[in-house]
Amino acid sequence: MSMVLLVGGAGFIGSHTAVELIGQGYEVVVADNLSNSDASVIDRIAEITGVRPEFYCADAADRGDMEEIFGAHAFDAVIHFGGKKSVNESVSDPISYYRNNIDTTLTLLELMKEYGCSRMIFSSSAAVYGDASDAPYSETAPAGECANPYGRTKYMIEQILTDAAAADPELSVVMLRYFNPAGAHESGLIGERPAGEPNNLMSYVLQVASGEREAQPVFGDDYPTPDGTGVRDYIHITDLAKGHVTALRYAMEHTGAEIVNLGTGTGYSVLDVIKTFERVNGVKIPYVIAERRPGDVAVSYSDPSKAQRLFGWRAEKTLDDMCRDAWSWQQKQKKDG
Ligand code: WQD
Repeated sequence: MSMVLLVGGAGFIGSHTAVELIGQGYEVVVADNLSNSDASVIDRIAEITGVRPEFYCADAADRGDMEEIFGAHAFDAVIHFGGKKSVNESVSDPISYYRNNIDTTLTLLELMKEYGCSRMIFSSSAAVYGDASDAPYSETAPAGECANPYGRTKYMIEQILTDAAAADPELSVVMLRYFNPAGAHESGLIGERPAGEPNNLMSYVLQVASGEREAQPVFGDDYPTPDGTGVRDYIHITDLAKGHVTALRYAMEHTGAEIVNLGTGTGYSVLDVIKTFERVNGVKIPYVIAERRPGDVAVSYSDPSKAQRLFGWRAEKTLDDMCRDAWSWQQKQKKDG
């Protein structure tokens, strides 16, 4: 069976993808610098799957760290989740975002070439679409006019990978543009751990539901949407993880570069999320209408048809599932201290 290196594999999307890959019989090696994750995630992956992935605490921008890992295994593919992902932080500290997100990618590409690994799946983002056109976004929609440095690093890396694939006929690159990942593994054993105050809607809702925060701020209720609040394409983290497995299968059989959206194709408003969470979990989410958040677009959702066409993949879980699974993860964490 194929051997896959998951860079950033202890993070939110990486850990769920590790679970799905192991479930499909792949051999998984995780490299993570633990800057925004915890080594206990590896225990949780082992608990869910019955298989403990080999783990390296390693920085993907550090050639020495990565050489040791590449030297010890013959990887069939690399899945590159190893990046900084806070939109706010990218605005206040853009240099660290360009340095980290681009450096890690270049180091990985160099080592893949050196060690004869020719497939990469990359975590890109719907943030590359910016505000240049209207949803639904298909992969051919204008991209690159990003609202923040985080999105720009993703767009730049897409260009780097496209150039690299054009120059090397052996290379296979799939760039996945994620919409809004939410939820947690249904076991409640792995999920998102926001560092500090959460930026993302679902992470914040969880803290309001558990009483850590008083009220959910709703950033604007005067958008041109049915209820005035922002609309997004929330996708269950398990669906997203399965999307990586199908992308990997595709990359095994094709060369060249592909950009593929991973979303459900359905948009929900902020109030839809709050009301669904309340209904599914039987908890109250007090909310207050606040100012619009700078850089937000009114509506973002995907045209997911390319993933269906290329990979035979589509999202299966609902917003109800995302709210239920996120809440059981949150409660389990509290119980475990
Ligand atoms: C969703 C909606 C907010 C918080 C960002 C990145 C994207 C990806 C996911 C990765 C918007 C509203 C939010 C709150 C609110 N990045 N909101 N109150 O901005 O669509 O996407 O996260 O790691 O690349 O751009 O996600 O969850 O922050 O916001 O009203 O407390 O919820 O205005 O309409 P976003 P989000």
